[in-house]
This record gives sequence, structure tokens and C-alpha cells, in this order.
Amino acid sequence: MKIKRVKLIYYSPTGTSEKTVKAIQQGIGIDYDIVDLTLPSSESKNYTFDSSDLAVIAAPVYSGRIPTVAVKRISKLKASNTPTVLIVVYGNREFEDALLELKNITKANGFRAFAAGAFIGEHSFDTPKTPIATGRPDTEDIKKAKEFGEKLKEKIEKIEKLDDFSVPGNYPYREVKSSTRSPVTNPDTCILCGMCARVCPTGCVTVSDAVETDSSNCTACTACVKNCPTGARHWDNEGVLKAAIWLSTDYAKRKEPEIFL
Ligand SMILES: Cc1cc2nc3c(=O)[nH]c(=O)nc-3n(C[C@H](O)[C@H](O)[C@H](O)COP(=O)(O)O)c2cc1C
Repeated sequence: MKIKRVKLIYYSPTGTSEKTVKAIQQGIGIDYDIVDLTLPSSESKNYTFDSSDLAVIAAPVYSGRIPTVAVKRISKLKASNTPTVLIVVYGNREFEDALLELKNITKANGFRAFAAGAFIGEHSFDTPKTPIATGRPDTEDIKKAKEFGEKLKEKIEKIEKLDDFSVPGNYPYREVKSSTRSPVTNPDTCILCGMCARVCPTGCVTVSDAVETDSSNCTACTACVKNCPTGARHWDNEGVLKAAIWLSTDYAKRKEPEIFL
């Protein structure tokens, strides 16, 4: 198939999915456009793709699934027999049904997967005391992502017709329990810069003379914590703190990216 442009499509609150697709793109080496679905402003745009595009769609794994906000935004994209690469990025635990979910929601709108990958990113709940895949994707991951991109280019050039493509995962998908929790702000160190509000994918943080969070709309993505310039924004939720200890203890062994071609 002849590809005119690559479309890098991602939802990436803490930036690891974004880094991964950009490394894959380096390997593909065809001109590209970015479709960043991370912030609420992306919801007002309409995106369409055709069969001369190569879509690379990436999202993080939350509880073995695609985050619901990402599902909503990805489901709005309209494609027409568009060759597609599916990427999930997970925090060194498991990716479970996320790739299958990503395949199914994109297939319904005209994307045709011919390759997929599960890469590792620093876990959103990583802290110096509870390290979980700290600093990933690292140099080794980026190298593998770039090599994957090179293989994708070779494969797409040889493909004449897009057949159904299998990815790991089970349906019905893993059930996700809903819970209401959000990071908190230490007023002593907060400088009211508004960064937490600007990076929030759901717009649930507002900053005036104090920081307020609508917990019912928080996805626990932790972008506000990771981007806070003074460290004022943090987790004090017992469930999240316990999960961080569990993950850094039980999932300390390094996992490697898996590719499906
Ligand atoms: C609410 C939540 C649930 C998560 N669930 C999983 C999971 O099931 N398995 C896993 O390995 N990592 C899990 N992670 C970690 C993310 O998948 C990981 O940090 C990823 O790199 C984040 O992508 P981003 O930087 O593009 O936002 C979870 C993170 C959050 C915030």
C-alpha cells in the first residue's frame, strides 16, 4: 500500500504514550501530523482519515483497559479503510484487554489494524519511594520503538489488502470498578500557577485563589501531580498509596515491549 502521511493519534496524560509513538514515527520516517486527544479542547474537533493515511493510535492502559476518556475521544474519529497500528503503553504490570479494546473501538470506525505493540511507560503512580518503571520509555525502549517503526514501513509497503488482525485480550473485557479519588494540593507550597488545571484531560481542576478539584470527574491520570512545578500536588488517597507500594514491590521486574506484526 502507498502511504502519503502518517497520523500520530494519542491520548497521553503523563506523556509516555506520546514519547513512544514519536519514537515509532522516527522509524517510519514518512511525513506526519499529530492528533493529540489528551486535553478537553480536542473534543470540539472532527478528524477524518482515509486509506492513504497510516494511523498510529496510542493510549495508556488503565486497569487492563483503555481509559474511558480515551475511548470516548477515539470513538469520535472517522476513518475509511485506514491502515492502523495499535499501541498501548502500560506501567510494567499487565496490559490485559487494552489492545483488544483499542482494536474493537477503532475497527468500528473504519480503522484497519495490521500491527500492534504493547510498550512500557513509567507508571503514573511512580514516586521516588515507590518506583514503578521509573523513566520509561528509556533509551532501550526508544530504540525498540524506532526499530518497530522501520518494520512497519516495510510491512505496509508489502501489504495489498488489509485482512483481519488478531491481538491478545479477552472479551468480555476485564471489569473496571469505578472509584472517586483525586490528588490534593498542599496550600503551603502551591504557587497557584495553574499548571494542574492546564494539563488535566477532563478539566476537573480549577485554580483561582485556591486549587479546587471535581473528584467525580478525575480519572486518577496523575498528570497534575507529575507536572506540578513545586511538588504541591500529590496523592494522599489510601487506595492509591497502597497500590503504589504493591506495584513497586510485586512488579519490580522489568518487562520488555511486545510487538505484533
Ligand atoms: C488509573 C490508572 C490505572 C492504571 N492501570 C494500569 C494497569 O492496569 N496496568 C499497568 O501496567 N499500568 C497501569 N497504569 C499505568 C499507566 O498505564 C502508565 O503509567 C502509562 O505509561 C501512562 O501513559 P501516559 O504517560 O501516556 O499517560 C495505570 C495508571 C493509572 C493512572
